[in-house]
Amino acid sequence: MKKYLLMNGPNLDMLGVREPGIYGSETLSDLEAQVRAHAQEAGVGLRCFQSNHEGKLIDELHSAHGVFDGIIYNPGAHTHYSYALRDAVAGIDVPVVEVHISDVDAREPFRAVSVIAPACAAQVKGRGFQGYLDALDLLIEGVDGTLGEGYKERYAPGQVIVAGRDERR
Ligand code: DQA
Repeated sequence: MKKYLLMNGPNLDMLGVREPGIYGSETLSDLEAQVRAHAQEAGVGLRCFQSNHEGKLIDELHSAHGVFDGIIYNPGAHTHYSYALRDAVAGIDVPVVEVHISDVDAREPFRAVSVIAPACAAQVKGRGFQGYLDALDLLIEGVDGTLGEGYKERYAPGQVIVAGRDERR
């Protein structure tokens, strides 16, 4: 059975409480239950992990190498500055799809920059919790390669971008 890892970074444990106008009123447990149900329907395994700590997230990525077939990852604010997490994503042989609940391109300018996405196989944003299900589907369909530097210029604007192709959903 294929196995996937769902990772959520800092402050995503506060879903349901934190800025509900942006992130909605459902909790992290609700999110994990939805992704679990989707994985079950698809006949794949899922582990869920959330941490507010960069080092713990790095350790989790390292231990995913050789174990998981893909990672659905919302790095939260680490997205915008953590080169250590980007290096961890680049350093494992597991495709990672970066997910954002909100449309990071339509908010403050600092959120439009992802230092992690270039090392990922795809990025999904602005689709609420549905984006996590889309990410799992993409991983199951098969994604490889990396978006690379300047990915935004090379792919037509769309909410789902995938290395080597542009998808609009
Ligand atoms: C987020 C967007 C980030 O800018 C923010 O820091 C988050 C959540 C999202 O899911 O939309 O924590 O990754």
